[in-house]
Amino acid sequence: MKNLKASEIRQNFIDFFVDKGHMVEPSASLVPIDDDSLLWINSGVATLKKYFDGRETPRLPRIVNSQKAIRTNDIENVGFTARHHTFFEMLGNFSIGDYFKNEAIAYAWEFLTDEKWMAIEPERLYVTIHPEDTEAYRIWHEDIGLEESRITRIEGNFWDIGEGPSGPNTEIFYDRGSEYGAVDPEEEMYPGGENERYLEIWNLVFSEFNHNKDHTYTPLPNKNIDTGMGLERMASISQDVRTNYETDLFMPIIHEVENIVDKKYLENDTYDIAFKVIADHIRTIAFAIADGALPANEGRGYVLRRLLRRAVRFSQSLDINEPFLYQLVDIVADIMEPYYPNVKEKADFIKRVIKSEEERFHETLEDGLAILNDLIVNAKEANGEIDGKDAFKLYDTYGFPIELTEEIAEQEGLTIDMDTFASEMDKQRERARQARQNSQSMQVQSDVLKNIQTDSQFVGYDVMDQDTTLTDIIYNGEAVDQAEAGQVIYFVLKETPFYAVSGGQVADQGTVQSDAFEIAVTEVTKAPNGQNLHKGEVQFGQVKTGSTVRATVNHDERRSIKKNHSATHLLHAALKEVLGDHVNQAGSLVEPDRLRFDFSHFGPMSQEEIDQVERRVNEEIWNSLDVSIKEMPIDEAKEMGAMALFGEKYGDIVRVVDMSPFSIELCGGIHVSNTSEIGLFKIMSESGTGAGVRRIEALTGKAAFLHLESIQDKFNAVKQQVKAKADDQVYDKIMQLQQHDKDLSKQVEQLNKEVTSLKMGDIQDQVEEINGFKVLATQVEVANSKAIRETMDDFKSKLQDTIIILVSDVGGKVSLIATVPKDLTDQIKAGDIIKEMAPVVGGKGGGRPDMAQGGGSQPENITESLRFIKNYIKSL
Ligand code: ALA
Repeated sequence: MKNLKASEIRQNFIDFFVDKGHMVEPSASLVPIDDDSLLWINSGVATLKKYFDGRETPRLPRIVNSQKAIRTNDIENVGFTARHHTFFEMLGNFSIGDYFKNEAIAYAWEFLTDEKWMAIEPERLYVTIHPEDTEAYRIWHEDIGLEESRITRIEGNFWDIGEGPSGPNTEIFYDRGSEYGAVDPEEEMYPGGENERYLEIWNLVFSEFNHNKDHTYTPLPNKNIDTGMGLERMASISQDVRTNYETDLFMPIIHEVENIVDKKYLENDTYDIAFKVIADHIRTIAFAIADGALPANEGRGYVLRRLLRRAVRFSQSLDINEPFLYQLVDIVADIMEPYYPNVKEKADFIKRVIKSEEERFHETLEDGLAILNDLIVNAKEANGEIDGKDAFKLYDTYGFPIELTEEIAEQEGLTIDMDTFASEMDKQRERARQARQNSQSMQVQSDVLKNIQTDSQFVGYDVMDQDTTLTDIIYNGEAVDQAEAGQVIYFVLKETPFYAVSGGQVADQGTVQSDAFEIAVTEVTKAPNGQNLHKGEVQFGQVKTGSTVRATVNHDERRSIKKNHSATHLLHAALKEVLGDHVNQAGSLVEPDRLRFDFSHFGPMSQEEIDQVERRVNEEIWNSLDVSIKEMPIDEAKEMGAMALFGEKYGDIVRVVDMSPFSIELCGGIHVSNTSEIGLFKIMSESGTGAGVRRIEALTGKAAFLHLESIQDKFNAVKQQVKAKADDQVYDKIMQLQQHDKDLSKQVEQLNKEVTSLKMGDIQDQVEEINGFKVLATQVEVANSKAIRETMDDFKSKLQDTIIILVSDVGGKVSLIATVPKDLTDQIKAGDIIKEMAPVVGGKGGGRPDMAQGGGSQPENITESLRFIKNYIKSL
């Protein structure tokens, strides 16, 4: 066996198969393209499905690749085992209807055993096959010459991970030798068992079936070959190290962590788990971000968030309590650069994303821990169980991971009422569902809507007023022929200028009227068969189906909506330009009064970025771009560079809103015909919604102007107040006022000092000499009982050799305090003074020899108490 670097193994594998007539397919993005059955690319074949199922024909039927992959089914194991990873590389050779079992097995054997390639001693290799695969058996036994005892039949040897190609497989195992355990079938110590001695190094799949969406299997157009070799594993064997983590793919990362934490790998089991978790997760996170994923609260983004948080949590066992993962991006980029240069190219961006996410999580941890500590104290006093509602609140309001709450509770010997937690979770889901339903309340209609078959055409892209016929009326859930004044009805028009709410753009409002009646339209949605369904209240008269009507949308509102919608497109493009290509629309609301745009981005925008985006949008308004709108096949639109919304489903024919060269976007909404119509664009706020998603609210046209005008008014008011003559004097005036204010504060402070020292002079005069002690015993006026301490501190600092006894009366409550200089406490104790004195004012107290406090309820005896205590000192 040759000792090779991981990069050499990768290159050898590719070279070997290129020699055998394969074309190299570059590693595809981890984020699947045109495939919603997968969250991540999870194997070499996942990116080649289109060839396997015959949708596309590859240029050559023989393909080789090294594909980056993410699998997240075993996250909890990562760190605790030798070989679990969330990110790994799979080397594979593929045949699309070309060679099959004979060549696939022969190639694998040659690559593994030939001197020129891996040079593994043949006696170290074992295989498993599917019990019914007699052909694979024959090839291994007769052609390759493996004896019967080295071929194991295993029922599970059928490769199938859901939708996509599948088929029986044969797996090749490497025997690491008896130092990893003696052969023992009871302990699964055989090739194919769960053990550390026989490592599976290569999986050859004889891919013959397609696993369909409905879980049926149909034969593929061709018999194909799909193989996968885990690079990390192969490297661990070649480099003869115990675990994948000790290979050159991970050790440099681990060394970097060692440097940061000043602790060593392989010296302490707990540390080792953390080292492995960090080394694994940082690769996944860095690669996923490089491929366009961002931490978020759901889907792919949630996987990233979860991995990052897991790495941070484990890093705490290495005493790391601040952001640090981002510092590992460079080393990951260096290790992988030869084959995956995009991590290095995007390293700065990746670091920013990770750092900001780490910072957020540390804040969450701090807030959450403080609350959790209270919960723990309460639970300990009560029944040893943390309330499920509290745990849910911690999760829901503070974003504190429930796994962490569980872990910490367990450390404290407490349990969590998980049933209640789960039911709170369900309730919240139900609330979210309700909220969604309410916003689409018009869609929860019965079959009545399904039965509306009339044709209805939307004509509102071009017109705002339309003469037409009212065809259907629904009142009280029933199709009816007529409706009366005061009734709220749903109705359909033969042609309608009313836009139905969609793509973030709100519906038009307006009126539908004839000589005999008028309806005020308040909502428009799509009926099941595609007609625009209007909702409105009959204002007067009697509405009848078949009536000729004039439908009019509210002109002013429509004009504002158009401006806001077109401005939204400009904003989207400007955000991409200023912040980067990772910006994707995550939600949009286009109303007459304002627009709201949600987008993926990892942290707050700086004021500079906000200003820049605002300026770019305005510049494109001043550029007076023509807005051209066309329908075309989706491929043509993509070719034009039209921006499609991530995750949105489009039909074959799409509508393209073209504001070239700045923005081209697929959209069904209503737009201005030239960007200059927008007039003006003003961002009102930038904020975070869920993590990873930012929100901008903005105004256009008149609303933007009115907003600026109101700011101008406020400015003018300030200008008048500070008595500035010209606009550019206002700032200086305010600076002057602030300086003046500071000067006054200083003066006040100085005067206070003088007053205090004058008072002190007074006090000094009151010090008496009693029984050889210097004693100050007096009544003071203070604002509250706490302040007597401060007064005492003041006095003490001035009168260091004096026994001081102060009494105050705050609203009928007596406070007592006494201090005795330390070197006198063996003769007289503050505690005793207060103990003696307090009963005189009807109270009690005590404390240390040098300082004691007490209280009482008889202020009328204060003078008496002072006299009493002086006598007490005299009598000592
Ligand atoms: N697609 C096969 C696997 O992932 C080779 O194991």
